[in-house]
Amino acid sequence: MRRSLEVCLTHELLPLYSIEGKTVVVVDILRATSVMVTALAEGVESITPVASTDECKILQEQGYLAAAERSGDLVPGFDLGNSPLNFVNNDYSGRKLAMTTTNGTLAITRSIKASEVLIGAFLNISALTNYLKNSQRDLLILCAGWKGKVSYEDTLFAGALASNLLEDYHTDCDSAQIAMDQYNQVSSNLLAAIQKSAHYSRLIKLDIKEDFKFCTTRDLYDIVPKLFGKELKSVS
Ligand code: MLT
Repeated sequence: MRRSLEVCLTHELLPLYSIEGKTVVVVDILRATSVMVTALAEGVESITPVASTDECKILQEQGYLAAAERSGDLVPGFDLGNSPLNFVNNDYSGRKLAMTTTNGTLAITRSIKASEVLIGAFLNISALTNYLKNSQRDLLILCAGWKGKVSYEDTLFAGALASNLLEDYHTDCDSAQIAMDQYNQVSSNLLAAIQKSAHYSRLIKLDIKEDFKFCTTRDLYDIVPKLFGKELKSVS
């Protein structure tokens, strides 16, 4: 029997879905899950996503590399903000990373009742697709969104991943259909599409320009981050 696929458009809507026994793929294209895929692919040993800056500070005091973002910007007192390029331009191999962001890490911490929590981005979409094709669990794609509102770019990714899995999963979820229809309209140029998003405008106002092309690059990495207890590590 084909497994079911659903899309939840923001983590605030997650209580409306059942996730026990399922695989949850968390996506926050700009930029938390793009950062997580990049950091692990570039040699970071593990990532501990936490919901608050207080939790992140405690881990920093224990020797973790600590990245904290709120409303797109670096939180003062921490080592890094939330650009994936931090892990391309610097060598943090072997380091344990603690990470808190406005929406992405909150979405992860709200998903821990799932049987399996995976991290998705355009950067690893084929590796993730192949992993899910071999999975036996029902699937929920959880879009982080923005402070409870729908995010254009996260929904776009959900549509891309759902479209890749249509032969293996069945869906009667309107959010999934909306996401696939969105993706099918703009899939030829993700960078152009993402410039429609509200978060693109927010980040541009912060003079953040380099991250967009990177975060819309498909398959730069072939890893799948998975949550083991409180830590994300690479599988496959
Ligand atoms: C989020 O958690 O909403 C994003 O990671 C924010 C960002 O990195 O700009």
